Amino acid sequence: MAEKASKILPNEIKIEIINQKHDLTRFTSYEQDLVDFLRDDALRNQEQNLSVTFVWFYRNRLVSYITLLTDRISLSGKLQDYFMDKGVTYKTLPALKIGRLCVDDEFRGKGLGTLMLRFAVQIAKEINQSKAGCRFITVDAKRNPNPPLDSVKFYQKLPFKIFGENTKEKITFMCLDLKLV
Ligand SMILES: CC(C)(COP(=O)(O)OP(=O)(O)OC[C@H]1O[C@@H](n2cnc3c(N)ncnc32)[C@H](O)[C@@H]1OP(=O)(O)O)[C@@H](O)C(=O)NCCC(=O)NCCS
Repeated sequence: MAEKASKILPNEIKIEIINQKHDLTRFTSYEQDLVDFLRDDALRNQEQNLSVTFVWFYRNRLVSYITLLTDRISLSGKLQDYFMDKGVTYKTLPALKIGRLCVDDEFRGKGLGTLMLRFAVQIAKEINQSKAGCRFITVDAKRNPNPPLDSVKFYQKLPFKIFGENTKEKITFMCLDLKLV
């Protein structure tokens, strides 16, 4: 379990796009599939233009990573009504998806997760300013039966909202409206 300690500051972090020179062997998490993704799939997916993975270094140690890709949200229910009221009648809206996000167990609770969410928001805003429309950030949040490890609550702090659920797979679909941050 991560020890409670002071927050890591943005200026103490170095961010790189993953490449074959990065040593991924020391990274550990209670979410083993996110460790496996980093080691086995992140670079391969990037080479296939499926996602981009940003690895974060603190004092030359790989402490966290975030994987981004494009996405879209299908509008239904309340979300559809909300946009109808604004005269937006499209069936889907563009989004940037957080495909994977993970902090090394030793470095949890030091603000890195929050900094990576802000990083994703910053990238989405830059896309909006000069590249392409992007209304939401989306994430498929993993549910964990152990409440302190349930990532839904972590995302709700930014504040991401729930717009769907796959109870069988224990996944909650969440989105952040970039017009609200
Ligand atoms: C979820 C995760 C990314 C959070 O990263 P972190 O660096 O520990 O988070 P932060 O230090 O920025 O914490 C931000 C806030 O969220 C809370 N928080 C962190 N992880 C939480 C969790 N799993 N559940 C509920 N709240 C959480 C913190 O207590 C903190 O609250 P505060 O602002 O009131 O102090 C990290 O625990 C992790 O990598 N978990 C394993 C992988 C995972 O679940 N990824 C998401 C899969 S979709």
